Amino acid sequence: MLAIGLTGGIGCGKSTVAERFAELGVSIIDTDQIAHQLTSAGQPALAAIANQFGTDFLLPDGNLNRPLMRHTIFASPEAKKALEAILHPLIRAEVRRRIALAQSPYVIVAVPLLLESGAYREIVQRVLVVDCSEAQQVERVMARNGLDEAEVRAIMAHQLSRQERLRQADDIIDNYRNHASLGPQVEQLHQRYLTLANAQG
Ligand SMILES: Nc1ncnc2c1ncn2[C@@H]1O[C@H](COP(=O)(O)OP(=O)(O)OP(=O)(O)O)[C@@H](O)[C@H]1O
Ligand SMILES: [Mg+2]
Repeated sequence: MLAIGLTGGIGCGKSTVAERFAELGVSIIDTDQIAHQLTSAGQPALAAIANQFGTDFLLPDGNLNRPLMRHTIFASPEAKKALEAILHPLIRAEVRRRIALAQSPYVIVAVPLLLESGAYREIVQRVLVVDCSEAQQVERVMARNGLDEAEVRAIMAHQLSRQERLRQADDIIDNYRNHASLGPQVEQLHQRYLTLANAQG
C-alpha cells in the first residue's frame, strides 16, 4: 500500500488539504486523532500514563486530564519525553494497522512532526509538505485558536524551519493563496499518486 506522509508547519493547512483528499475517496490516517483516541477512557495507554505520572492525571470519568498533562509537558521536557515514549509506539502501531486495512488505492498519513521525528520514514514512501509563509501561519493560528503572536511563534520555534521542511519534501502544496487554489493542486497530486500506486501493484 502506497502511504503518503502529509506534513507542514502549524496552521499551514494540513487538515484543510487532508479534507480535500478525503473528498476524492482517499483514506486519511490522522495521528493527532489517533493520539486523542488512545488517551480516551478505557484505553491501555492510560494505565501506563497513570503508572508513570500518577492517578491525578486521570479524571473521575476515566479520561486523561488533558489540561494538567498539557501544563506538565509544557513545563518539563522530561515529562514530555516520558509521555511520548508511551504514546508514540502505540500511535505508529495503529497507523500501520490502519494502512493494512485501508480500502483506497493509496493512503494519506497526516503527521504534524513527520520530519522532526524521523520515525515515519519507514512507514511512508513520500513526503507531501503543505506550505505557506510564516506570517500566514501566525495569522491563521491566531484567528483559529485565539492565541497571540508570541504564543504561535513559540510553537513554530519547536518545528523545523520552512526552508528545511521544503528541502525534505517530495511534493509540495502551496497554500499561500486562497482555499480555491488548493483544489487543482490536490487533483494533480491525486493523479500522480494513483499512477504510483498502480505501478507499485
Ligand atoms: N488558503 C487559505 N486561506 C485562508 N485560510 C486558510 C487557508 N488554508 C487554511 N486556512 C485556515 O487556516 C487555519 C489553519 O488551517 P489547518 O487547520 O488546515 O492547518 P493545519 O496545518 O492542520 O494546522 P495544525 O498544525 O494546527 O493542525 C484554519 O482555520 C483554516 O481554515
Ligand atoms: Mg490540523
